[in-house]
Amino acid sequence: MAVAEAGPAADRAGEAARLMASGGNDVVVRLKGIGKVYASGALQVTALADIDLEVRRGEMVAITGPSGSGKSTLMNVLGCLDRPTAGVYELGGRNVARMGDDDLAAMRNRFLGFIFQNYNLLPLQSAQQNVELPLIYRGMSGRARREAARAALAAVGLSDRTHHRPAELSGGQQQRVAIARALAAQPEVLLGDEPTGNLDTHTGSDIMALIQRLNEQGLTVIMVTHDPRIARHCRRVVSVTDGRIVSDEAVTDRLMAEAGATAQVSA
Ligand SMILES: Nc1ncnc2c1ncn2[C@@H]1O[C@H](COP(=O)(O)OP(=O)(O)OP(=O)(O)O)[C@@H](O)[C@H]1O
Ligand SMILES: [Mg+2]
Repeated sequence: MAVAEAGPAADRAGEAARLMASGGNDVVVRLKGIGKVYASGALQVTALADIDLEVRRGEMVAITGPSGSGKSTLMNVLGCLDRPTAGVYELGGRNVARMGDDDLAAMRNRFLGFIFQNYNLLPLQSAQQNVELPLIYRGMSGRARREAARAALAAVGLSDRTHHRPAELSGGQQQRVAIARALAAQPEVLLGDEPTGNLDTHTGSDIMALIQRLNEQGLTVIMVTHDPRIARHCRRVVSVTDGRIVSDEAVTDRLMAEAGATAQVSA
C-alpha cells in the first residue's frame, strides 16, 4: 500500500525520531487534570472534570460512554478544536492548552487527522478535491497535492472513484474519502467521532478493518464510539461517565474486522 508504506510511514518515523529527541518517550497525547465547563447563560455545565489520559504511539483507543457523558467534548479538546477550561494538554510534547489560535491550528494541521460520523465532505467537490483540500494548508504544490491525494485514495481502495462527488458515493465510500483526506496530510494521530455511526454493520466493519490496518502500520488512533462491539476492535477502551474517566482497560478479546471492499488494496 504505497501511501502508508512510503510516505506517511516514513514521515511518522521521522516524527517519532523528533519526538524521541525532544520528549524522550513515545507519549503522543498527555492530558493532565483536564476540565471543561460550558457557561450558557446562568447555567454552567461541567462537561469534563479532572481527566488524566496518556496515549502512546501506535495505540488504538476507543472512548465510550453514555450520551452526554463528554465524549465529543473530549474529542474536541484532543483535536485542538476547543480549549479546556482547566488542566494541561501536551500534544507531541508541547502544551497546547494555552496556545493561541494560529499555533493551535498549526498543531492540528501537523499532528492530527479527523474523521466524523457524517463524513464532512464538501458536496460540490470531487473525492480527489476533497482529499487535496487540507494539503493546500500545508503549502504543498498543486502537483504534489494531486499525487498525495491519489495515493491516499488508492490506500483506501478508491482509485476508481477519484472524480465522483460525495452524493455519487455510498456512505462507506464517503467515509473512506474522509479517511483518505485525513491520511493525505500524514497525521501523527487519527481522531474519529463515531466514524461508523452512520454505517450499516457490514460497511462499519469494512471501515474498522481499514482503521485497524492503518493502526498496524503505525498510525495512532483515538475514536469515540457508543457501540461496545466497535470498541472491542480497539486495543484499549476508556469509558467516560459524567465527564470523568471511570475505566481504562486493555482489550483482551479484541475483534479483527473482516476487510471486504478494502481487502483488494491491502497487499
Ligand atoms: N457548546 C455547549 N454548550 C453548553 N453545553 C454543552 C455544549 N456542548 C456540550 N455541552 C454539554 O456537555 C455535556 C457533554 O456533551 P458531549 O457532546 O461531549 O456528550 P457526548 O458524550 O458526545 O454525547 P453523545 O453520545 O450524545 O454524542 C452534555 O451535558 C452537553 O449538554
Ligand atoms: Mg457526541
